[in-house]
Amino acid sequence: MKLKKKIKKIIKKKNRTPIICLTAYSKKIAEITDKYCDIILVGDSLGMVLYGMETTRDVKIDTMILHASVVKNYAKKSLVVFDMPYKTYTNKFIAYKNAKMVIKKTKCDAIKLEGGKEISSIIKYLTKKNIPVMGHIGLQPQKVKTFKVQGKSLMDEKKIFDDAQAVCNSGIFALIIECVVERVAKKITKSIPVPTIGIGASRHCDGQILVTDDLLGLSDLRPKFVKQYSNLSISIEKCIKKYAMDVKNKKFPSNKNIYK
Ligand code: KIV
Repeated sequence: MKLKKKIKKIIKKKNRTPIICLTAYSKKIAEITDKYCDIILVGDSLGMVLYGMETTRDVKIDTMILHASVVKNYAKKSLVVFDMPYKTYTNKFIAYKNAKMVIKKTKCDAIKLEGGKEISSIIKYLTKKNIPVMGHIGLQPQKVKTFKVQGKSLMDEKKIFDDAQAVCNSGIFALIIECVVERVAKKITKSIPVPTIGIGASRHCDGQILVTDDLLGLSDLRPKFVKQYSNLSISIEKCIKKYAMDVKNKKFPSNKNIYK
């Protein structure tokens, strides 16, 4: 596969500098994250975060295309990755048709697929056809309803390790490892030539990713692996409450806000 310059730069960071990644679904967050991130993921987590869905399985490809087009338009330097939603890559032909369509419509740099060994032939087909693919193993939100740490038993550890080798041999350029015990993430990171990006997978990964709304305190999810840097829900509520009071008490609009 002919690799884009931006992707080569990401791969080169392995064992050198930590890779910084976050999600974005909208213009403002794309502009801000673009200043600080190497990779911006337009994650299907937007279904739960923005649309109140119970799982990411209900996210439609057209919704993702709408958000990804905006993000790609406002993220000028980072690598923008499109998260392929549930059932859009059920076999290699469907996966290729959808991946080609989303890249054409959104101009995103790469796609992400959830899954291990069972989707390795799909990944191989896509990468052979020059579609850059980011893998996602460990906890896979499209497959489960609850957050459960993966890789605790030896059997589980072996399965995740084998998944990592299989998707890596299929040509991925980076691998997201979600919610696994530290030992497993460390072992995988040492064993594969492409960068690992952890979310709840310890600092031994080559990079880190979080859902931006989680770190800002804008979502209802509080898994242990999220470091919350602010509680914007409280700040937003304070502003809206103040506005409501101002309107009620006829303090807004004031003279400053009207046209004479
Ligand atoms: O959908 C998403 O935001 C993701 C990240 C949590 C990795 O897949």
